[in-house]
Amino acid sequence: MNKVEQLEAKRAEALLGGGQKRIDSQHSKGKLTARERIDLLLDAGSFEEIGMLVTHRSHDFGLDKEVYLGDGVVTGYGTIHGRPVYLFSQDFTVFGGSLSETHAEKICKIMDLAMRNGVPVIGLNDSGGARIQEGVVSLAGYADIFYRNVQASGVVPQISAIMGPCAGGAVYSPAMTDFICMVEKSSYMFVTGPNVVKTVTHEDVTSEQLGGAETHATKSGVTHLTYVNEVACLEGIKRMMRYVPQNCEEIAPVYPYEMQGEELREKLAHMVPENPNQPYDMREVIEEVVDADSFMEIHKDFAENIVVGFAHLAGRSIGIVANQPAALAGVLDINASKKAARFVRFCDSFNIPLLVFEDVPGFLPGTDQEWNGIITNGAKLLYAFSEATVPRITVITRKAYGGAYDVMNSKHIGADMNFAWPTAEIAVMGSKGATEIIFKNEISKADNPEQKLQLKVDEYTEMFANPYKAAARGFVDEVIRPEETRKKLIRAFQMIQNKAVTLPRKKHGNIPL
Ligand code: HXC
Repeated sequence: MNKVEQLEAKRAEALLGGGQKRIDSQHSKGKLTARERIDLLLDAGSFEEIGMLVTHRSHDFGLDKEVYLGDGVVTGYGTIHGRPVYLFSQDFTVFGGSLSETHAEKICKIMDLAMRNGVPVIGLNDSGGARIQEGVVSLAGYADIFYRNVQASGVVPQISAIMGPCAGGAVYSPAMTDFICMVEKSSYMFVTGPNVVKTVTHEDVTSEQLGGAETHATKSGVTHLTYVNEVACLEGIKRMMRYVPQNCEEIAPVYPYEMQGEELREKLAHMVPENPNQPYDMREVIEEVVDADSFMEIHKDFAENIVVGFAHLAGRSIGIVANQPAALAGVLDINASKKAARFVRFCDSFNIPLLVFEDVPGFLPGTDQEWNGIITNGAKLLYAFSEATVPRITVITRKAYGGAYDVMNSKHIGADMNFAWPTAEIAVMGSKGATEIIFKNEISKADNPEQKLQLKVDEYTEMFANPYKAAARGFVDEVIRPEETRKKLIRAFQMIQNKAVTLPRKKHGNIPL
């Protein structure tokens, strides 16, 4: 065997990972291999591997006799839509993708390169956790990755896909990245698995129930996106890359757009029902305003009373936060506040302008909310908007009541433009509630209290259930016809796209966590 043949033999060996039998086993579970996933994710032929010949250094438990080139993770770089990314893809065919000292070093190496060069990092996770035979060096390897996740946070976008097991402390690396995508039925994440749960809390629960994609999409909110299979998941990551920049110094890709005379949208004039208590789907408003088919919803099944996601407006990336009157009347609660706050902070970190659609009756009352900290959690959203320096615009479609008016990107906390539709109602609370408080005595003493109440409700509605008091103060910049919304937003975002804000000098703020 000459030297080049020797190299090719090593390459061929590395490409086989843990061997054909284990590759077949991976396929039989409906899962792709680490390399097949990379091929689907990156532009064809763009992958360059780093560390293909790395091997572990362990001798305990007979590991010195079981050595695989690459050591259970494929690392390197390539392009998506022509733009560079670094990535790692764990290889379940090698010790179940478990993380050894050298496996961790490979991941750290690409993270360091990504940070130095301002390039996003994508992690495809499929791992049995710490390489049990290696003990503490494996734990140290995890910590080295966690540390880098935090250093990279806000510098380059970090996206995680969970495509198999992800258990124990291993979950904390994805948790510190910007977005987690999970594959339905074949991935799970938990800090302690069903067996430990059974021992400690006596609960009988399956892996799927405890930490499957559906659980984390609906109950915990740990995952932002779920997909029916791995191919769809990788397509989802590719789609997301269209909205995010390479790093915090750049803006997201801009797609060509010319005003085409399609900016007026008649359909918007009929979105808000006559009856102020009747719901409507804010997604329809969003779809009508943004570029065709460009809305990518994030965290769809968690806290459905608020909608967040990316879209393009005249070819430019924007982040949308919208109250959803079709779920819990669009009220703000703990989960909605956390969901939106995290999204706002992502957009602000990466120079993605924010567009807010507002129709909110206030914060959700009740002991459940109060005892679980709606104060601290609601404050997260207030904080996130207040510190955001990206261009920010609000459109009030209907209700903007109480504290929620302030929180939802009001002018007072730094929004650049605030539009209202003629259907907007900007007040401390709804007319009935307000009337019952301020006219309590007058109503109770009236000959016909019910009639009196209605009279006062009508009076209050006439006075406050409109956008004009706020417009008179300049808290609303312009009251617009709904059909003009797209056009107004395109123009307004153009005018504020070079916004520059200098924040007070500080080490970092102290968001109410
Ligand atoms: C070494 C491991 C391994 C691990 C799996 N393997 N997990 N090797 N360290 N952590 C090996 C198996 O020995 C097997 O080798 C191959 O990977 C595939 O595993 P199977 O069990 O055959 O596969 P499957 O039935 O699909 O089960 C997958 C699994 C299970 C659910 C992940 O393997 C499992 O429970 N593993 C242990 C998980 C765990 O407890 N990890 C430590 C968590 S603590 P062969 O040679 O047969 O192919 C932790 C702390 C991190 O991670 C802390 C960070 C702060």
